[in-house]
Order: sequence, then C-alpha cells, then structure tokens
Amino acid sequence: MSVGEVVLVGGGPGDPDLLTVGGLRALQQADVVLYDHLAPLACLDQAKPGATLIDVGKVPRGCQTAQADINALLVEHARRGASVVRFKGGDPFVLGRGSEEWLACAAAGVPVRVIPGVSSAIAGPELAGIPLTHRGLTQNFSVVSGHVGPDHPASSVNWDAVAHSSGTIVILMGVAHLAEICQGLIRRGLDGDTPAAIVARAAMPDQLVLRGTVATLPELAAASSVEPPALTVIGAVVGLALEPTATPY
Ligand SMILES: C[S@@+](CC[C@H](N)C(=O)[O-])C[C@H]1O[C@@H](n2cnc3c(N)ncnc32)[C@H](O)[C@@H]1O
Repeated sequence: MSVGEVVLVGGGPGDPDLLTVGGLRALQQADVVLYDHLAPLACLDQAKPGATLIDVGKVPRGCQTAQADINALLVEHARRGASVVRFKGGDPFVLGRGSEEWLACAAAGVPVRVIPGVSSAIAGPELAGIPLTHRGLTQNFSVVSGHVGPDHPASSVNWDAVAHSSGTIVILMGVAHLAEICQGLIRRGLDGDTPAAIVARAAMPDQLVLRGTVATLPELAAASSVEPPALTVIGAVVGLALEPTATPY
C-alpha cells in the first residue's frame, strides 16, 4: 500500500465562514480528520461519509492529548495510505504546534503540506473592531505567547522590547497569567493608561469583548470570569473602538 499524506489545515478562529476554500476542500477529501477544540467544529459535518474523526483536543486544565501522541497518529494513519487532515484552529504556524507536526511527518517520510488559516491573533481583534495597525497611529504589532508570564524562567520573550515596541501587543494563551503580564509590561515602562481589551471566544456566537487599560484589564477579566480561548490586545489602536455599523456577513 502506498503512503498517504498529511494536510495541516488552519481552520480560523471558530466561525465556519472563516475556513478557507482550500481548507474546506481538504476536509471534504480526508479519510481521517484529527481535530481539536479550537477548530471550527461545525465544519466536521463536511467530512465525507465514513471518514474517521478523532478528537485530539488540548483543553487548558482539561482533557489533554500529548503532542507526541498526535504526531504518532498522523504518521500511523498516513502510513496506512490515508489522506489525513490535522484540523486546527487559527493558523497552524502561529503559536500552534503545526511545525512540530510537519517535522514529525517529514522525519517519518510522510508527505506533508500546510493550508494557512485565519489566525485568531489577527481576526480576534478585528472582529472586536480593533485594527492591529492604523495609519498615523501604529505601524507595527507583536504576537506574544502568554502561556508563561514575564517572570517565569521558561519565558524566552524579550518583555522589555515588547513593552517598548511602540506598537500593538497581542497576547495569546495569556488568560491565566494576565495580571503578571500586564503588571510586567507596566513595570518595564508601558504606560498603565494604554488602552487594552480582552476578546474571548472570538468569531463564536458568544464572543465577549472587555475594554479597559493595561492597568485595569486583569481585574475586569477576573470580574467576568473570562476563560480560554481568549486573547488580549494592548495599544493605542484599542482606543479607536470602531463600532460595527453592519452585520458581519
Ligand atoms: C495554541 S494557541 C493557537 C493559536 C492559533 N494557531 C491561531 O493562529 O489562532 C491558542 C490560543 O489562541 C487564542 N485563540 C484561539 N482561538 C481563539 C478564539 N476563537 N478567540 C480568542 N482567542 C482565540 C487563545 O489565546 C488561545 O489560548
């Protein structure tokens, strides 16, 4: 039997309308789909009849599938000749582990390709009316992992540079460490009055947006019991607060 292939599909932040045409086609053609909780799950009914659907979710502080197990499943099914889709939220190469999955397939001699997705880092702020750049106001943005805070020895982020970047800061995976991150940025020189927002469950029907400043945001988030998936946006662009004047689609 000839070896199949693995396609890493970026599903966007959760709304089926934000899956690319190429991503949907790959999903429709797959024999096996490995999906997690951040993918647009409503699209799974687009898989062909008889396709094997495998939940490899990594819910924070909940059911976790080890990355090594996901890699092994991808390789195992492709080696049996299957066309395998790894269906992920956002974009596979933005703070996800898509590149590790790619390397695992390549090391095993399994053909692998990626279909980029709409990253929550960009779409989340956008759907809350926050552009990441704005002419005359902000010319750059940084996307930072907040899975550990600035005081943690495992953080390899140059938080001093982030605090002084003069651009927009987008924090993914930062709910648990929001206070440490915001206080750490202020301690490093960021003005505590800098506008900041948290966008939870972006692109989903229960999307929640909280606006404040980098000094007040942790308390606002705690008061609303914000849970992942959520992202934080910090910078002057948050102050623009574009109000939608038409429905999204
Ligand atoms: C492991 S990272 C993966 C990011 C993904 N590769 C992307 O490009 O969007 C997971 C984090 O992305 C953010 N995220 C993903 N989907 C989201 C959504 N629908 N709303 C808000 N944040 C989201 C959250 O910060 C979450 O903790």
